[in-house]
Amino acid sequence: MSIATDRINLSAPWIDERDEELVLEVLRSGWLSLGPTGPRFEGLLADAVGAQHAAAVSSGTVGLHLCMHLVGVEPGDEVITSPYSFVASANCAIYMGATPVFADIDPHTFNLDPEAVEAAITPRTKALVAVDVFGYPAEYDELIAICERHGIALVEDSCEALGAEYKGKRLGSHGHPAVWAFYPNKQMTTGEGGAVTTAGEGQHELLVSLRNQGRLETSSWLQHGRLGFNYRLDDLSAALGIGQLEKLDRILEARRSVAASYGELLAGVDVELPLADDENHVRSWFVYVVKLPADVDRDAVMTRLSAEGVATAPYLPSIHLQSYMRELYGFGEGMLPVSEDCSARTMALPFHARLAREDQERVAEALARVIPGV
Ligand SMILES: Cc1ncc(COP(=O)(O)O)c(C=O)c1O
Repeated sequence: MSIATDRINLSAPWIDERDEELVLEVLRSGWLSLGPTGPRFEGLLADAVGAQHAAAVSSGTVGLHLCMHLVGVEPGDEVITSPYSFVASANCAIYMGATPVFADIDPHTFNLDPEAVEAAITPRTKALVAVDVFGYPAEYDELIAICERHGIALVEDSCEALGAEYKGKRLGSHGHPAVWAFYPNKQMTTGEGGAVTTAGEGQHELLVSLRNQGRLETSSWLQHGRLGFNYRLDDLSAALGIGQLEKLDRILEARRSVAASYGELLAGVDVELPLADDENHVRSWFVYVVKLPADVDRDAVMTRLSAEGVATAPYLPSIHLQSYMRELYGFGEGMLPVSEDCSARTMALPFHARLAREDQERVAEALARVIPGV
């Protein structure tokens, strides 16, 4: 079932009666936090990505922050990440008093270029935050090898990639900690929310303690064994997460089919379409981002599409050029040319699991009018 609308929005969550039923059940139980629903959600999530453990948290951002604790990032350390990502991938380093170091990206996958990562390593490098941008898996064989060679911890920012596969295995099952996010524009949502999946028992215990004010498994409510945070996910959100996970395969399939329709409809328009899957990379469709020709004014295209009722977004600005980054570190244009070029030319189109075919046709027709065919 799809929904056709006058204004075509960028994203929309898929909420159904089963989700409502699950949330209502928790609401009526009166057990709104630290009840049995959280662990049920975590078990389903761990199974869905093939990880041993899942720790639900209140957002993807705090999941990344906890991972910085997990791998021991300290003030003065450097953390390498992608400039072509959401700001949280870099902010997590700053929260620790560490410095984010950006390595440039591949112009087609939009993910970190392993050679650039290796070139960015210094004696102060403590961790790499690899991002699976737009749901496309990063180059894990190369990145893991680099991390092992240099004794660097790897954290995977999979916030945009639930259900994606690298070399035939779902992201989250490759051994290193992976972070997930469930804001309503994501493949599945819990309202706000996130999770960290891990392979090791010790890492999971630490995450569970850190998100719950540093309580230890053995301690009572007002005993705190370490400095922690309140990064818990409440049970209402976890209940919604269960409903979403129950239909995750359907969600992913529907998104794949909407992406395939765009592929057909945009074939004659002069834009670079998202990279197709190959034997090592299976994308989980998060957003549908096209790259415009270098001589096209992207912002003018967005304005014209908006006038035709088509929402778009300039996905993604380069993080190092955000004003606070320039102020903090003196970053500027020209530092990361590939990322900067992608940032100037990429644009997200309306995309969600139940986007109607006729709305996609309207988007494609509008885009074809604005950007003449080849
Ligand atoms: C790559 C990436 N990392 C981290 C996050 C942060 O997730 P949240 O918004 O749940 O804090 C997002 C969310 O947009 C993201 O896309």
